[in-house]
Amino acid sequence: MQQYSATRGQILKLLEAEGDTSQESIKRVSEATGVPEADVYGTARFYDLIVRPGPRVCQGLSCLMAGTEELCEELTDAGISFHRVSCLGQCDRAPVALDGQMTLTHCGPKGGISPDSSELAMNLAGAEDLNYPALALARKNGAEWVAEQLESSGLQGRGGAGFPAHFKWNAVRKESGPTKYVICNADEAEPGTFKDRELMSRRPHLVIEGLAIAAFCIDATDIYLYVRGEFPGPGHSLEQAIKEAAQHLGDFNFHMVHGHGAYICGEETALIESIEGKRGMPRLKPPYPTQEGLFGKPTLMNNVETLACLHSVLCRGGDWFAGLGKTEPGTKLYCISGHVQSPGVYELPLGVSLDELVQAAGGYVGNPMAFSPGGASSGFLPISERDRPLDFRGLPEIGSMLGSAGAVVINDTVDMAWAARWQTVFFEDETCGQCAPCRIGVRYVRRALDQFIEDGDSSHLDHLNDVAWEMAEGSICGLGMTAALPARSAMQHFPQGFSRDGEESHDG
Ligand SMILES: Cc1cc2nc3c(=O)[nH]c(=O)nc-3n(C[C@H](O)[C@H](O)[C@H](O)COP(=O)(O)O)c2cc1C
Ligand code: SF4
Repeated sequence: MQQYSATRGQILKLLEAEGDTSQESIKRVSEATGVPEADVYGTARFYDLIVRPGPRVCQGLSCLMAGTEELCEELTDAGISFHRVSCLGQCDRAPVALDGQMTLTHCGPKGGISPDSSELAMNLAGAEDLNYPALALARKNGAEWVAEQLESSGLQGRGGAGFPAHFKWNAVRKESGPTKYVICNADEAEPGTFKDRELMSRRPHLVIEGLAIAAFCIDATDIYLYVRGEFPGPGHSLEQAIKEAAQHLGDFNFHMVHGHGAYICGEETALIESIEGKRGMPRLKPPYPTQEGLFGKPTLMNNVETLACLHSVLCRGGDWFAGLGKTEPGTKLYCISGHVQSPGVYELPLGVSLDELVQAAGGYVGNPMAFSPGGASSGFLPISERDRPLDFRGLPEIGSMLGSAGAVVINDTVDMAWAARWQTVFFEDETCGQCAPCRIGVRYVRRALDQFIEDGDSSHLDHLNDVAWEMAEGSICGLGMTAALPARSAMQHFPQGFSRDGEESHDG
């Protein structure tokens, strides 16, 4: 098995402190860590916040629809230099810009959340319980009882795949060996998604309590929190919560790791590589992280929201949690942005329709035409699907997915080829590049869309479905498998926008 250097994991932190990737900086980090200069340089070049620090303007779809281009003009006129970057996770406040310290400098009003209610599993507007009663119950009743409650809750992982949480917990519990790890995946960077940001900021104790329960249950002492680099505020809330809860947490060791601007590090094995101080490139699976994860040890990784559900699953019972759902167990934090009155994060029974979600968000703006139910990776659906349950099992039946539940509504002022183009740009910017079908395919798709947009000749799109098939079949991870979906689904559901005669207004 691969050997891990004790200091390799510090490379990214040291590079961030250096502030640039000059030869001198690379040399200093190499000397400090014992990692060859070429390796340090190769690692550094992978991460956008290290390669391109400084002010940034979001070019995610919700920001683009809300006026990214105008914002860029305004900044340019004011003599402010900036980078246009992938989605910044602030779609509810679009269009946004951050300064070099990752503080919002330009944004819309604060997004909405659900009103305070004790009938919600996470209740973003609720007060924190600093007594950690769920952790106390876990310690009193034992790990087996926790696993039983988790199973009866039916909780599905909220990071995107909807995998039953108790399967993964039990898989790690079964692994023998003295060292296991727990990781909180807080790298949230899917365009349209910003629920974990709100959860960490408003209810950090729910997340920390969930992590402690997970560590207790699988018998781990070291807990890692990998927080998106563009989220310093939420990261600080978690750090503060760990301090405040010290009396309940006992011997657990918490390690905060800040991301460095690479969407792919949200993929679980890429995230592990990144904690280990390497380029965030997904690993081939198996072995799964539950068997060989961080530093080669069995590792339980869950999304922020999955962990935050543990408090109510244990305090109110797995059956109570399961009963909250509409078509599948529990409540869900749905993000909504784009053409709606009050973009924000709304906690609703899992399985509500788009119409129900938009009702919570104050209604549609304009004449709705399309939506993405779960971020860029879920492609586009026509508004005629507005009554369909937004859940994990149903959406794949129509070629989409719930993913991270980052819904984006698009009205009829938008050209779908333009929208598909920008979602594809996102994947092109964020591919890690290790598999040819993904690296080459996503560029092909983006170029085909650009050529079509330029001259209206739909023959540029003739091979797109074949390329999409190659990408879906030949990619290691979910990024490459879904990167062509925005283009494919837009062409499938909005054919009039992809023919020579297609007449639609241009938002770009
Ligand atoms: C390209 C890609 C990006 C991902 N980004 C995230 C992310 O930002 N946050 C997250 O929790 N899971 C993300 N995932 C899913 C993780 O790989 C993993 O399934 C998840 O963290 C497991 O937690 P859960 O079981 O609680 O959902 C991503 C997956 C892929 C393929
Ligand atoms: S599919 Fe794309 S992002 Fe995923 S491992 Fe392959 S090249 Fe990297």
